[in-house]
Amino acid sequence: MSANGPSLLRTVAVKTISTRPFEDQRPGTSGLRKKVSEFQVPHYLENFVQSIFNSLEGFRDATLVLGGDGRFHNREAIQSILKIGAANGVGRVLLGRGGILSTPAVSCLIRKYSAFGGIILSASHNPGGPEGDFGVKFNVSNGGPAPESVTEAIYAQSRNIRSYRIFDAADVDIDQLGCMHLDRMAIEVINPVADYAGLMEKLFDFDAISELFASGSFRMRYDAMHAVTGPYAHEILERRLGAPAETVVNGEPLLDFGGKSPDPNLVYAHDLVAAMSGREAPDFGAASDGDGDRNMILGRRFFVTPSDSLAVLAANARFVSGYSEGLSGVARSMPTSRAVDRVAAHLHIPHYETPTGWKYFGNLLDAGKITLCGEESFGTGSDHVREKDGLWAVLFWLNILSARRSSVEQLTRAHWREYGRHYYSRHDYEGLDKEVAERVIADLQESIAALKGQRIGTHEVTLSDDFSYLDPVDRSLTEHQGLRIVCSDEARIVYRLSGTGTEGATLRIYLERYERDPSRQDLDCQAALADLAAAARQIARIEEKTGRRRPSLIT
Ligand code: G1P
Ligand code: ZN
Repeated sequence: MSANGPSLLRTVAVKTISTRPFEDQRPGTSGLRKKVSEFQVPHYLENFVQSIFNSLEGFRDATLVLGGDGRFHNREAIQSILKIGAANGVGRVLLGRGGILSTPAVSCLIRKYSAFGGIILSASHNPGGPEGDFGVKFNVSNGGPAPESVTEAIYAQSRNIRSYRIFDAADVDIDQLGCMHLDRMAIEVINPVADYAGLMEKLFDFDAISELFASGSFRMRYDAMHAVTGPYAHEILERRLGAPAETVVNGEPLLDFGGKSPDPNLVYAHDLVAAMSGREAPDFGAASDGDGDRNMILGRRFFVTPSDSLAVLAANARFVSGYSEGLSGVARSMPTSRAVDRVAAHLHIPHYETPTGWKYFGNLLDAGKITLCGEESFGTGSDHVREKDGLWAVLFWLNILSARRSSVEQLTRAHWREYGRHYYSRHDYEGLDKEVAERVIADLQESIAALKGQRIGTHEVTLSDDFSYLDPVDRSLTEHQGLRIVCSDEARIVYRLSGTGTEGATLRIYLERYERDPSRQDLDCQAALADLAAAARQIARIEEKTGRRRPSLIT
């Protein structure tokens, strides 16, 4: 049978394929993430997708949003999911053309078209290509990542699955806009950018940002890292806002992201960092990750930490039309610096501290308790969707810069003078033996409480515990979300294991120190945190247990 054209209705046969459970399909911090080769094992993807449907109710004849970041295996996975969806009675699929949709765009579409959920194919900032990573994430009807109750139900299904249902049909043409059918299921291939760009136009003052670009005195460089945001950035920044054509670089999504990690931080986005450090550097630099939910913000020769970025956005939200009526509250993940807490106190609005992972913001956003939220891992977002949103953060910054007519550095330094500076860094020990890493954490769980009242150099420990979170909306309790050591002068060390890796284990150590005095806000960040870093290594006995003398990645 040949590829299918638009509007062609065809009847095909449902097959029930017997299968056996895979034991390792428990979703992590952000969906099920594995090596591509694992997803290529026959039935692996199919089992997981059928497990999603088995765990749900009420999706028959309803709408599902589907798309991914375009990485290797994206197109193959889309075909399988369409056929499984049709065989399971999904009414309609909204599919990004070419199988492309950024994570925030999926969230936007689920909400706009009242879909029951969305399936996003991405391993976010992890490398792509045949040797790289792949992932499947299920988002629920509020547009956000499935909460733990849902991911656990999917996992439980995956452990008991014996068969899956799939249409025995030729591949669908996913590259032409328009509607077609796979038996009774409608497939609408849509422009992946249009609805998202429309939402951005509602939130931000596009005229003011256009004027900033038109003034000729402001230049920007946006690095899409050969990942999903290229088409979005070309459309929004260049076509709608009139930025010159060379503003967006690496704008073509590639199967392997050009062989690099599509991770917007000082290490992996080094080309952008280099371009922003010259004398003739642009005024504003930004980058996004594989699936478009992360962002990095740079000024000329100036890096804004994600924690500071969240605080600056909150403090300046009144200059942005979509947020000018005020913020109901703000939230950050526990390891994120407490810079935004100070802004919240100043604005007399509540602030919340959640476990790592965007899913914990969902209830707070749905209940209207918060408007802005963010994580230290280059994630920032708001109640406009239920995912973090890279381009949204970039536009928020552009809107503030156009309203305040000051540079990124001036704005951030003024913020520090007003609120104090939170020196902040994350030290990662990647590729550790899993058991070794788990032992480091288990030993800390035993010993950490005893640190209270002790001194770490000049810092006195006032709180040391294993962080747990009681959701104020549904009262669910989430435990063991990181070990934290908090000092009286607001210095802080946090330890946790990554939940997104695909090889061995990654230990993350988060370091933070507060400086109120403007004359001491200009230190080198790593130097300012050196004593805490050394103490963190010593307390966890990193070298003795892991053989590592220094972290493998510092952000
Ligand atoms: C990492 C980040 C976390 C983020 C997640 C998904 O998770 O630390 O903030 O929500 O990626 O982008 P981790 O690997 O630490 O579990
Ligand atoms: Zn991502």
